[in-house]
Amino acid sequence: MSDQVHVLDHPLARVLVTQLRDQDTPSDRFRVAMQRLAALLFMDASRHIQTQSISVQTPITSTQGDKLARPVVLVPVLRAGLGLVDGILHLVPDAVVAHIGIARDEATAKPHSYYAKLPSLLSNADVFLLDPMLATGGSAIEAARQLKEAGTKSLRLVGVVACPQGIDAFCQAHPDVPLHTAAVDSHLNDRSYIVPGLGDAGDRYFGT
Ligand code: PRP
Ligand code: URA
Repeated sequence: MSDQVHVLDHPLARVLVTQLRDQDTPSDRFRVAMQRLAALLFMDASRHIQTQSISVQTPITSTQGDKLARPVVLVPVLRAGLGLVDGILHLVPDAVVAHIGIARDEATAKPHSYYAKLPSLLSNADVFLLDPMLATGGSAIEAARQLKEAGTKSLRLVGVVACPQGIDAFCQAHPDVPLHTAAVDSHLNDRSYIVPGLGDAGDRYFGT
């Protein structure tokens, strides 16, 4: 596996992925598992972000501490990427949340871009593209393209389940964007769904 790909190796992550895979997990528990997993993934994906030294007064004395040097921007790909936002906001409540809307064409699996609301501060921010599923890679590739075109310089993709085809396509299109995932699955089926996967992440998260 290329150095660009980071697979979260943690027992809690494996337990949460298993809950997401289980077809008997109802939407309420699916949401909770997705949000918890998002926090674990973000802990790893945010390891590199820079801090700035500040002084702080404790009840006892003054000491040196840290604050984030730059804004954090979370960019969920609608819809399923929204499932990763709340868990990360528990860790960085002041993060900016931008949105990109992309839907796969059900017949061709090609990405269709239908919405974007991006802030102007992208070039000076640590930006995290959130999409739980990397199948063909088409949606994430297009979302990363839009973010770069809008000025993003520090970008990472955070997902839950990826398959080799999507990883290869993404790494070829964006070799400068690290990819974080909780699992690497076997392959795509004839409808371009990940096997074993977890089904349609958006439908399961939103109960549609
Ligand atoms: C799903 C998923 C990803 C995309 C992955 O979205 O959330 O965005 O498919 O597939 P790809 O790697 O082949 O592009 P979908 O288009 O089903 O929209 P939804 O999240 O609104 O259900
Ligand atoms: N989108 C999903 O939600 N699941 C897949 O397996 C592939 C694309």
